Amino acid sequence: MEQDDISPLQHFVVAKRTISAVFHQLLEFVRECSDFVAETWKSEDLEHVAEEKQCLQIQACSRKLTVIKDVLARRHMKFVTGYYMLFLRTSNGKSTVINAMLRERVLPSGIGHTTNCFLSVEGTDGEHAYLTTEDSEERKSIKTVNELAHALHMDRNQDSGCLVRVFWPKAKCTLLRDDLVLMDSPGTDVTSELDSWIDKFCLDADVFVLVANSESTIMNTEKHFFHKVNERISKPNIFILNNRWDASVLEPEYLEDVRKQHMDRCVSFLVEELKVVDLNKARERIFFVSAKEVLSARIHRAQGMPETGGALAEGFQERLMEFQSFERTFEEFISQSAVKTKFEQHTTRAWQIIESVKAIMDAINISSAEKKVFSLEDREALMDRLEFVRNQLNFLTENIKEKIKTITDKVADKVFSAMAEEIRCLSVLVDEFCSDFSPAPNALALYKTKLMAYVEERMVKNLDLRCSSSINCCVLSSQRDIMDTLRPLMPPAARGQLHLPNRKFSITYDLNFATLCEDFEEDMDFHFSLGLTFLVNRFLGPAKAKQALSLLDQKLQVTVQAQEELAISMATGLVSLTSRASVGMLVIAGVVWRSVGWRVIVLSASLYSLLYLYEKLTWTNSAKERALKQQFVDYTTQRLQAISHIISSDCGQQVQQEMVAVFARMCQQVDKSEMELETEIHRLSARIQRLEIKSVMLLFEYKKKICKVKKDLQSPVQKEIFYHFSKTTTNDSFGLQRIFSGICDMGRDLVELH
Ligand code: GTP
Ligand code: MG
Repeated sequence: MEQDDISPLQHFVVAKRTISAVFHQLLEFVRECSDFVAETWKSEDLEHVAEEKQCLQIQACSRKLTVIKDVLARRHMKFVTGYYMLFLRTSNGKSTVINAMLRERVLPSGIGHTTNCFLSVEGTDGEHAYLTTEDSEERKSIKTVNELAHALHMDRNQDSGCLVRVFWPKAKCTLLRDDLVLMDSPGTDVTSELDSWIDKFCLDADVFVLVANSESTIMNTEKHFFHKVNERISKPNIFILNNRWDASVLEPEYLEDVRKQHMDRCVSFLVEELKVVDLNKARERIFFVSAKEVLSARIHRAQGMPETGGALAEGFQERLMEFQSFERTFEEFISQSAVKTKFEQHTTRAWQIIESVKAIMDAINISSAEKKVFSLEDREALMDRLEFVRNQLNFLTENIKEKIKTITDKVADKVFSAMAEEIRCLSVLVDEFCSDFSPAPNALALYKTKLMAYVEERMVKNLDLRCSSSINCCVLSSQRDIMDTLRPLMPPAARGQLHLPNRKFSITYDLNFATLCEDFEEDMDFHFSLGLTFLVNRFLGPAKAKQALSLLDQKLQVTVQAQEELAISMATGLVSLTSRASVGMLVIAGVVWRSVGWRVIVLSASLYSLLYLYEKLTWTNSAKERALKQQFVDYTTQRLQAISHIISSDCGQQVQQEMVAVFARMCQQVDKSEMELETEIHRLSARIQRLEIKSVMLLFEYKKKICKVKKDLQSPVQKEIFYHFSKTTTNDSFGLQRIFSGICDMGRDLVELH
């Protein structure tokens, strides 16, 4: 496959590009979520489903992602992505190994202590090589390795812990194109500064190469350095190059033994002492090479000369292959390690951010759903309540109407019987009235007016005493009854608002004597108690007496005319000749005359006349007043009896009106609470609708996102990247797949939630 031809170092470059794209995509997604949450928090229409806290959290996520994205971008800019450390003893050939890898004599090398400080080699896009020192940013131009050696020697005053960065044109050296930094160290003879060196140069190194001299064994000072590194970095990637293996040809008979001896010692060092690699993998990290040979062969080849142009020792091809094998393994390791160390923490961070975004979005969604459910429940309860109130109000209205009718009848009965009592005691009431009496028409009219006013006032007062308090009590208790019946229909909070009217109800008794006695006419004429009219009146009753008298009148009119005149003159001369009673008496006298004799008649007539005289004389003003009062009592009694039904039912009506008015007012209050219920139901319905729309929006938003992410996943670029990652990383340490599958899970969860 084509991908197999790509240098392992390319994986890092591709990975960086991909992760930057992924972070860009993630950032966009989180920003959209952040906008959505902010809108949900602020908008009243959306019922403030999100909280301020969530809004701030998601904004923080967005900020963190931005920072990571910037850091990744800067890493790319700085070219400080991969480190390759070469270490060890002076003149083992460290600088030569780097030169061999770079296929050019970049670093100065030679017999004796040539490298006096830390030297890093990295690529530059420019055409010219240059170096920078820690002291200044100034770029010192170098054209050849001799110039570099010279520059370094000029700078003798700097100590071995300084760093000189050599920038070599990428065009000249392919290895440097892939963001690789190679670090050459001075010999580690000086051990006092080891710790500070490690802190300064080694902590972010991805691979360490121990360049050993195969002509001797690994020194303790060399081991000491790696022990120190091992303490600071967990499981560093360490390779061991047994350099100068070309020297082995000088003693071919011991070659295999020496190789085995070196191999065993190196394996033991890596596996048992440092414990950085498993036994079965240890041999893959140990190589027997000749850097000098490889370098010169490669330079020759570059110059178009045959590789074996010089006098090359025996076994050169094997050593060259072994060096190439080292290079290949080294590149794979450094790429894998760099991907892991430079990106893993960021992808883990991104993963955490996605988890928290997911948590926030889930929380908002759940809160929206919860609010909807609560609103539905509330609305249900309110609707039940409204129905109950309506049914109950209809039922209670009938009930209360019945009660009002009962109390109305009760009041009417009560007033009726009280009036009957009062009518019976009317004469006493009239007797109690005192005022100047005179039979003169004007004075008499005034007297009557006063009498009526007096009687009316007293009677009303008495009725009041007899009925009002009990009626009021009855009305009040009935009103309370109504109120208690209606109270459960009000919402608990508004129950206190239901109250009786402040004004006190009082009943009025409209007797209106002025109208009642309008037709009353007093009879102030004298009437003899033994007069014919009176007697007839007495024995036959006033109606029959009238009839009898008119009959008698007609029969006797002509025949008894002369005798009548005579009797009158005989009796007293005082008696009025026109008196109808006297005429009657004469007739009787005439009848009695024949049977009893005239003496008795005369005596009787005398007595009769005396009685008449007496009565006439006692017909004084007070007698007239008495007569008037009696006539008034009789008349009024009659009239009151006639209207007492009307008055009592009027009182009943008053009570009914009062009760109906109070009931109506209470019903109004119940209606008001009913209306409030309806308004609340409407409000909740609108809210539910809004929340439903919101849920739909959420669903829509996420579906959109999921589609986008899936599309990205299917794009050829992504496929290619996954191919590389599956090759470079064994257990998805890069975590890119996790991010994508995380987004997919998030979308699927949300869809399921709905
Ligand atoms: P310092 O920087 O001084 O610590 O030395 P170094 O480890 O960088 O060694 P350098 O590369 O300068 O090489 C020292 C000498 O060893 C040079 O003369 C090289 O030519 C020689 N040399 C390096 N590698 C080999 C090799 O594989 N075989 C032989 N025969 N000589 C080598
Ligand atoms: Mg050197």
